[in-house]
Amino acid sequence: MTDVVLWERIEAMRREMPATELRRLPHPRIELYAKMELTNPGGSTKDRAAYWILREAIRRGEITRRTTVVESSSGNFALSLSWLCARLGIQLVPVLDPNVNGATERTLRRTWDRVEKVEGPVGAGGFLLSRLDRVAEVMKEVDHGYWPDQYSNTDGLRGHYELTGAELAAALPRLDYLFVGISTGATIAGLSQRVTRDYAGVSVVAVDVAGSVILGGPPSRRYLPGIGSSIRPPLIDQATITESVIVSEREEVAGCHDLLREHGVLAGGSTGCVYAAINRYFADRQGPAPVVAFLCADGGEPYRNTIYDPAWVDAHHLGPAAGATAASTKGPSMATPVTEWTSPPQDEAEFVSWLDARCAQAPVQCSPKQDGWHVFGYAEAMEVLANPGAFSSATAVDLPEGSAFQLFREGNLSWMDPPRHRQLRGLVSRVFTPRYVAGLAPMIEACVEEYLAAVRGRPRFEYVNDFASPVVATVVARMLGIPSQGQELFRAWSGDLLSLIDPGSKSNSLKQVARRVRLMAAYLHEYLARRRRNPGDDLTSALVRAELDGERLSDDEIIGLIALLLSTGQAATLTLVNAVICLDRHPAAMARLRGDPDLLGPAVEEVMRYRNQTTRVARQSVREATVGGQTIPAGQPVTVWLAAANWDRRVFDRPEVFQLDRSPNPHLALGYGIHFCLGAALARQEIVVALRRLLAQTSHLSVDYEASRLLDPRLIFGASELTVVARWTDEA
Ligand code: HEM
Repeated sequence: MTDVVLWERIEAMRREMPATELRRLPHPRIELYAKMELTNPGGSTKDRAAYWILREAIRRGEITRRTTVVESSSGNFALSLSWLCARLGIQLVPVLDPNVNGATERTLRRTWDRVEKVEGPVGAGGFLLSRLDRVAEVMKEVDHGYWPDQYSNTDGLRGHYELTGAELAAALPRLDYLFVGISTGATIAGLSQRVTRDYAGVSVVAVDVAGSVILGGPPSRRYLPGIGSSIRPPLIDQATITESVIVSEREEVAGCHDLLREHGVLAGGSTGCVYAAINRYFADRQGPAPVVAFLCADGGEPYRNTIYDPAWVDAHHLGPAAGATAASTKGPSMATPVTEWTSPPQDEAEFVSWLDARCAQAPVQCSPKQDGWHVFGYAEAMEVLANPGAFSSATAVDLPEGSAFQLFREGNLSWMDPPRHRQLRGLVSRVFTPRYVAGLAPMIEACVEEYLAAVRGRPRFEYVNDFASPVVATVVARMLGIPSQGQELFRAWSGDLLSLIDPGSKSNSLKQVARRVRLMAAYLHEYLARRRRNPGDDLTSALVRAELDGERLSDDEIIGLIALLLSTGQAATLTLVNAVICLDRHPAAMARLRGDPDLLGPAVEEVMRYRNQTTRVARQSVREATVGGQTIPAGQPVTVWLAAANWDRRVFDRPEVFQLDRSPNPHLALGYGIHFCLGAALARQEIVVALRRLLAQTSHLSVDYEASRLLDPRLIFGASELTVVARWTDEA
């Protein structure tokens, strides 16, 4: 039953909560607005979610004047609950973790008799799981406990819909982009539902921090609270996310400082992340300025001893010179020109030493043979990849007119620069969302089981062509809604693509592959026409329907995109190959993984870092730019050696050690910047599922290298054929 006294109190408080100011911030390329949530009574945007959660619980009679509210939060949500509970006259037990700001903790301890603080993280679930464990304990101890459960309580989402979102819609007649930092998912879910209702064609861009798992990234140690999460919060699935941007903690710190210098706003970490994301996203924007809004989610005062303290920033290597998340400062600090250039050797071990030596010698080098510039260092690779205005992807590839492979040109994001890249990627990201990919889990499991069943029981099998490649091709085909006959074509084509990257392969005939590409193009045109007449709930139909700024994809672009998904998707096949090679060469790691399958997530990240499938990516400098202290003139081919950057000793401690649970592991195997792998979430999901089932169904796996064909590591780490010796268990 509703406690009427409490209900009247909370309704009166709603009338006292004024809408926060919408402030216009001058910006050279966009019309930018900040909604100043930091002026809320609790100091942050969380006030709205906390208010609505308490209000609804009071209305349902779940909170009365005898209630003790118990909640896990590392900061703002606890502060919002704190003033609300104090005003309502009910008790609060906040449960904090060691990342909490000192100022927040002091305020809470001064307000409440009991404040709980956990000590250590729980596995990959981090501090959040420790806090949730402690909440459960406290709930057992207190009488009339109420747990708001901000991570899955849809009332929090509703608060942002009814309050924050409604205020935004009332103040802003037009909105093209809304950037939202994500943590519990409530803010982005509530706001995205509201703005997509109120503004036609608005894009909602989710901003997460490296090390958070919300958008499918690998978990790693983070120093700053307020954004990201070590578990994927269920509320995120209720958000309509058009695109996402992942920001490093170093960029987060820079974003906060920029906001302060450029606009005089002292904001907290999540706001700095969002501001950095906006600047990165619109760095090359030309043409009419879109209307962009974001929340100034909280103030910077609690971060005085962290983000705004130069000593803390230096100690955590988050300043401009550190170059990477959690980078160490060992090794060369400046690039030096190189006089002695040796060509990369083909032998794998020698090649890895060559990369290591080059990186140690100078992270940026110019080859005297005039074959361009080579970037080996981690921070320097990020500099190139983050600057598409200077380093173009469009000019890096040339295809003869009339070539069958023209199929790969239309809609090929990899070979595109802004602004076209941004438009097209925006359209694709609108449908190929993390939520969409998460929903593919049952289909991926089924594909893996199907192909495992085909090799199961064989003492030796050809892992690439009988397992990894068909699994990856079938997943792409089924995701696109391709019927079974067409799936066969996808698998054959996938095999062709693999043979193309192995110059010595018997089945490598350019003519034959070109014939199949033409066949595939004809098939896809016919399939697309069918889908246009008769749409389904697959990715192809979603691509047909997708619209951004009044623009839709042409048939050639959709077909080019499908070709791109299938061809770049092969990286997942080769990463599955690399995983087995790494585990074969590190039997102790294989045994450990068999005993603790929860390590699969970090183990896959380590495989990507250690045997970096995409050895290098190509760019062309289109204007002069300085990278790592070296001036690269316009018109130069630039090779970014991702495999070297992922072994950069300034960033990775003992990179030559294959360390299953390496953390942090901010590798660049999936790229960086605007071309960051679009299929990252899908790749991670299919690789983890395939390895989990393979390990569960075998007691022994090893590689017969004599009967295998490893690829040339100077181009790609992987194998076109891999004979695996297996002992199978009874588990099916
Ligand atoms: C572990 C497996 C994978 C690895 C290591 C990987 C690696 C990469 C890298 C390094 C890039 C950036 C290229 C550049 O900067 O020039 C990239 C881009 C891309 N990847 Fe992946 N990839 C993987 C799996 C996949 C899968 C499964 C798909 C889709 C089915 C996919 C689709 C794409 C697309 C479409 C792009 C282009 C994005 C753009 O240019 O905006 N990738 N990938």
